[in-house]
Amino acid sequence: MPRIFIARPIPEPAISLLKKQKGFVVDVYEKDEIIPRKELLKRIKGADAVLPILTDHVDKEFFDAAGPQLKIVANYAVGFDNIDLKEAKKRGVIITNTPVIEAAESVAEHAIGMMLALAHRMVEGDAFAREKKYRGWSPNHFMGFDLKGKTLGLVGLGRIGKLVARHALLGFGMKIAYTDLTRDTDFETVFHAKFLSKEELLKNADIISLHVPLLASTKYLIDTAEFSLMKKSALIINTSRGPIIREKALLRALRTKRIAGAGLDVFECEPAIDCDLTDKLELKSFSNVLLTPHTASATLEARSAMSKLAAANIIAVLAGKPPVSPAK
Ligand code: DGY
Repeated sequence: MPRIFIARPIPEPAISLLKKQKGFVVDVYEKDEIIPRKELLKRIKGADAVLPILTDHVDKEFFDAAGPQLKIVANYAVGFDNIDLKEAKKRGVIITNTPVIEAAESVAEHAIGMMLALAHRMVEGDAFAREKKYRGWSPNHFMGFDLKGKTLGLVGLGRIGKLVARHALLGFGMKIAYTDLTRDTDFETVFHAKFLSKEELLKNADIISLHVPLLASTKYLIDTAEFSLMKKSALIINTSRGPIIREKALLRALRTKRIAGAGLDVFECEPAIDCDLTDKLELKSFSNVLLTPHTASATLEARSAMSKLAAANIIAVLAGKPPVSPAK
């Protein structure tokens, strides 16, 4: 009887789909919290399939604890930087992720939302209104800027980057520039987009939006040198992975007003918002920083589609079929 362990209660339909499979024994961690490591290692023992979330580290210790019968780790996330792919390959364990279009749409909308909120200073205005400071209309209060006509600089042109470009161009009349390892000339034609080096893009963009996976080569892609190239009026948006930006460099850029603001859904030392908790200069002390707790894909559409795909991967692999979406 195949045993499946799910590391956190996730939105339906995965749990019901798996429970409906004949002979499947499905164990779900009961609490809506990150499963303590010890508990995770105990509960995966003897499992044929594990469905972890992006906060669970799938490494040598994990595979040892699970045992040699483990066939698939179906990550409930698009990113899979929490998984040691080499170790999985060595042991013949299939790794899958959930790159559903719904998640890309959701993250793209979130990135655009952050741009609008920062450019129109909505969060600062909201705090001001809630603090009962509003005494009447002012010609000068919370002066922001329009997205129209501004240059959006995309770092990474995968599915999410392209969707952000579509919304930015068609919805707001922004100009599009991008940088990536490879050029996409069709994209350039359709979106009137400019392909630039990273340096040129950082110099020219009014808003920089990051859409690259976390790899050894992308860690600290945005560091002090990169901030020094940006316009003082630039905003940076990160909905990818925290360590793409070196937090210390970002804090310095904010303190010295090297840039105008940041929208962050992910953090270098996640789940901590700030790496150095003793540092008085926390991200949250800046009113021009918008923080969301890694919720860019938190829509029912995205999370349900991710759930369905994670279950489909487990069902396929345990039936001896190829996975639907192997991590690559
Ligand atoms: C993912 O799926 O990788 C996202 O970061 C979750 O929001």
